[in-house]
Amino acid sequence: MTSWQKSDWRAKPRIQMPEYTNSELLKATEKQLGQYPPLVFAGEARSLRQKLAAVSRGEAFLLQGGDCAESFQEFSADNIRDTFKVMLQMAMVLTYGAKVPVVKVGRMAGQFAKPRSAPTEIQGGLELPSYRGDIINELEFSVKARQPNPKKMLQAYTQASATLNLLRAFSKGGFADMHQVHSWTLGFTESEKASAYREMANSISDALDFMQAAGLNAENSVELGTVDFYTSHEALLLEYEEALCRVDSTSGKHVAGSGHFIWIGDRTRQPDGAHVEFCRGVQNPIGLKCGPTTTADDLKTLMNKLNPENEAGRLTLIARFGAGSVEDHLPRLIKAVKEEGANVVWTCDAMHGNTIKASSGYKTRPFESVLREVQEFFAIHRVENTIPGGVHFEMTGQDVTECTGGVRAVTDENLSDRYHTACDPRLNASQSLELAFLVAEELGQTRGVKSAKVAS
Ligand code: PEP
Ligand code: CO
Repeated sequence: MTSWQKSDWRAKPRIQMPEYTNSELLKATEKQLGQYPPLVFAGEARSLRQKLAAVSRGEAFLLQGGDCAESFQEFSADNIRDTFKVMLQMAMVLTYGAKVPVVKVGRMAGQFAKPRSAPTEIQGGLELPSYRGDIINELEFSVKARQPNPKKMLQAYTQASATLNLLRAFSKGGFADMHQVHSWTLGFTESEKASAYREMANSISDALDFMQAAGLNAENSVELGTVDFYTSHEALLLEYEEALCRVDSTSGKHVAGSGHFIWIGDRTRQPDGAHVEFCRGVQNPIGLKCGPTTTADDLKTLMNKLNPENEAGRLTLIARFGAGSVEDHLPRLIKAVKEEGANVVWTCDAMHGNTIKASSGYKTRPFESVLREVQEFFAIHRVENTIPGGVHFEMTGQDVTECTGGVRAVTDENLSDRYHTACDPRLNASQSLELAFLVAEELGQTRGVKSAKVAS
């Protein structure tokens, strides 16, 4: 490991990365990016690792969420604020319902590059490269827009740094006010669950009023007034990752400076591939997507490569099998982890195995399937006596109509109303919060907390 170099991935087979045609421009851009400051720092990555170690022991719970793909066009302070806010709300519901601290990680400030099911797309007889995220090319279907352009890495860096700047300010600057709790359930009107939600919100509000009366408030309590919020993304575009990789001056080890937590996608987890090679050498906490085609042998090889010292908090396995399929795959992978005696965090991505095409033609995800996958994930961990460490969602603070269902039901016909995603369909603010209540119930049940029961 001492001989690991941040460019070693270049000698390995790479997939899902663009073919840049202008190599001079690519080199110049990488050089420029290499001179920019890192976005995150080694001490922050280390503190997240410690928190994830607590998650692996069942002493905390991981909440990871955000856009499928961040977009240059949708970039605004309001969008960042709203997603941040919904994540805080979800975290509070989880903490209250399941009596457990929540580690908050946004798919933000770097989640730009996307793997695609096909390298090209054909429209009206014209074949062009697929859209691979704003850091690589543009969604518009034209020869120029679909040409991968290395300079987009600079714009992604700038947007990521401005996003982080705002997130740091929101986290520490008094925005994280918990006293908004009553307004959260306003949208949940006629549903049978609404009153149960309101009950929990009332209890949270009572607890906060009590603490306020006892002299604890956002101004004088670090715990009430500030939060730790971390960033994450798929480490897909390795030129960008390499350019932001730095040596930590205190430990002498390499750190990905692009985000606190980076993960390897389900399509790029080949044990001898470029993405695993890059991720194995950096000190950050690493995620590994595990899908239906992940074999027990591959998982064992990957755990040894990515976490040779078996350190708790280093490796998070992100299960994404699809509702109805969790039982076919999670037990066999849990068995592999047990056989290796590996320290991992298990988390549930309830989005990527549940994408369907609606009758209206839109790519969507039924809320019921998302919920069911979460429930199956928890049920299996209860049977296996292992720890369901977290959840991973594609979500936004905006009132979009991209996933169907939820108490303020979005129907197939509604999807076209506010379908804004540049890639996969996201839960909207109301659906995200509803899910948090339901996850709190599952988690509370696992942890034996009675007050977590939301609905009968
Ligand atoms: C994603 O998280 O956006 C993604 C592409 O997931 P997966 O690699 O699991 O398909
Ligand atoms: Co996605």
